[in-house]
Amino acid sequence: MLKQIIQKMLNQQLNAELYSSYEYLAMSAYFESENLSGFSRWMRVQSQEEYGHAMKFYNYLLDARGEISFLQIEPPKVGWHSVEEVFQDTFKHEQKVTESIYKLVDQSITEKDHATNIFLQWFVTEQVEEEASAQKILDKVKLIGDNKSGLLFLDHELGQRASAK
Ligand code: FEO
Repeated sequence: MLKQIIQKMLNQQLNAELYSSYEYLAMSAYFESENLSGFSRWMRVQSQEEYGHAMKFYNYLLDARGEISFLQIEPPKVGWHSVEEVFQDTFKHEQKVTESIYKLVDQSITEKDHATNIFLQWFVTEQVEEEASAQKILDKVKLIGDNKSGLLFLDHELGQRASAK
């Protein structure tokens, strides 16, 4: 049986992952409008991945016989001004997600909820990867600066991203 506080936080994280999916979809649409179809694909796959994260929380809540709360999903930001701004936001967003996962891990330790703690370990590792990939692309975008051919090269590279599993 899940403690109320853990159930509440798991539901909030489910909502945060759905928001992430929504936000990356908004970024994908922005790139599409800029004719950067490779960046757009990368974000679309990222959005699918976030939906997968949300479903992990959903399934865990069901398995643990918890209640699902269908919380409101906030509208994402729109109207970026540059590729760099989008990846600045991506990196900041992933840092925020890491923070909320850590809070959940801390709470699971406080509540001695070992099952939830083990469930969350996958997300702890995943967040290292999420932050690293956002940072890596942001660094490349900064390096490219105003070089249009560099940007198109990166667009091609990001367009090769495989679909989310
Ligand atoms: Fe679900 Fe990008 O963290």
